[in-house]
Amino acid sequence: MTSQDYVKIFDTTLRDGEQSPGASMNIEEKLQIARVLEQLGVDIIEAGFPIASNGDFEAVDAVSRQASDKVVICGLARSGNADIDRAGEALKHAKRPRIHTFISTSPIHMKYKLQMEPEDVLDAVYSSVARARDWVDDVEWSCEDGTRTDHDFMCRTVEAAIKAGATTINIPDTVGYTLPEEYTEIITMLLNRVPNIDKAILSTHCHNDLGLAVANSLAGVRAGVRQVECTINGLGERAGNAALEEVVMALNTRQDLMPFQTGINTTEIMKASRMVSTITGFVVQNNKAIVGANAFAHEAGIHQDGMLKNSDTYEIMTPESVGLSESKLVMGKHSGRHAFREKLKELGFDLGQNAVEDVFRRFKDLADKKKNVYDEDIIALVDDEAVRGNDTVKFVSLRIACGSEEPPQADLVLEIDGEQASASTSGDGPVDATFNAIKQLIPVQPHLQLYQVHAVTHGTDAQAEVTVRLEQDGRTTNGQGADTDTMVASARAYVAAVNKLILKMEKSAPSALSA
Ligand code: KIV
Ligand code: ZN
Repeated sequence: MTSQDYVKIFDTTLRDGEQSPGASMNIEEKLQIARVLEQLGVDIIEAGFPIASNGDFEAVDAVSRQASDKVVICGLARSGNADIDRAGEALKHAKRPRIHTFISTSPIHMKYKLQMEPEDVLDAVYSSVARARDWVDDVEWSCEDGTRTDHDFMCRTVEAAIKAGATTINIPDTVGYTLPEEYTEIITMLLNRVPNIDKAILSTHCHNDLGLAVANSLAGVRAGVRQVECTINGLGERAGNAALEEVVMALNTRQDLMPFQTGINTTEIMKASRMVSTITGFVVQNNKAIVGANAFAHEAGIHQDGMLKNSDTYEIMTPESVGLSESKLVMGKHSGRHAFREKLKELGFDLGQNAVEDVFRRFKDLADKKKNVYDEDIIALVDDEAVRGNDTVKFVSLRIACGSEEPPQADLVLEIDGEQASASTSGDGPVDATFNAIKQLIPVQPHLQLYQVHAVTHGTDAQAEVTVRLEQDGRTTNGQGADTDTMVASARAYVAAVNKLILKMEKSAPSALSA
């Protein structure tokens, strides 16, 4: 394989993906996702926008420290010195740092957003890239709103960015407006007209407002780009970005027309998808390509008949190739710690000793209640326990009385800062009663933005996995909880989101919690 056949995968789940309203993640969650992205084999992780907030800066710094030398860690910066220096600082501990700097180049953005003349924008392109090169050797430059930019002007900015030292040139379809033929034309035009274009790799960054992000990215690859910017599950601003799993599987499946390689280990795709969905609370729709629950389900009798005769009749890729396997029965209630630890390893989890003990205890409880325990059950328990370490609020117990005869009543016990506290409340339903009880005891008063439940496996004894999104004073957090009892799972999810909210509020305004 030559470098001409290799398409770099630049994942921006932690930056553009996090810009989806409600998808905010804390540092521990970003580190978890970064670990999964490395296992997946992405070439570049865009870890955040360091000047945007202290949290973003800390996340880029933490991901930089954690990452190996197999992956490039990237921080985003506008064209000003302060942005670039903040990105440079945040990336100081990355083994392979990249600064990604951008400025708008379309007439509409220059006039209304930047209020700058094109010649001043051109100067800013050169000076921002040159300043980024003072920090790192690997600099990417993007012309924001590239697909609505005048072609002559785009050629001049791209040439200037390369002259100043950019080694990757990204052409974003920021507003998801372009069509594949137009995108092909832009890339071909740049390759033909920019004199120093051979000194840089071209990149796509396509938004999905018209549902064309993946098609446009692939058109870019076929025209000559060798980096695709994308996100897990297509998360991102508005309608999202090109979905990593769709771009990669399209390239893998259509080698006849697109004979390119990526470094992605496709069998890790489902795990990454599931983790991003669980952490952000963004459910993957059932009919989503590659990672949706129905992506490999064959319902119609005529399809099932064909599949039984030869799976190639209706299956263009195998479920195993994206990491989907038959639900596997895990050990039962007599299984020991050692086997359980091996199972966690097999599922790709690398937990500390205390976390293993906590999940093992929950597994034993579950095995007492549930006849069959599957891999999915273990994954849900790990998701639930993952960030429990220093929680201020801990779930202890819940008793619910509900039904058609009386108003629902919740009797709840929590542990708050090591002290047990209890509350008994009613509500419009059992969930409302439970959440009212929690709100009576906690030091924050959030609004519920999202409540969703899904069954982890089949059967009426399946665990419920609940996701809760809370908001207070513009800060949003997600929490997950799993249990065979949906109300207990709901309480655990709410408490998990509360703990993250408390941390966020303490960081930004310690006094807000002491009142
Ligand atoms: O969509 C966009 O233009 C961006 C840039 C910052 C690359 O996200
Ligand atoms: Zn974007």
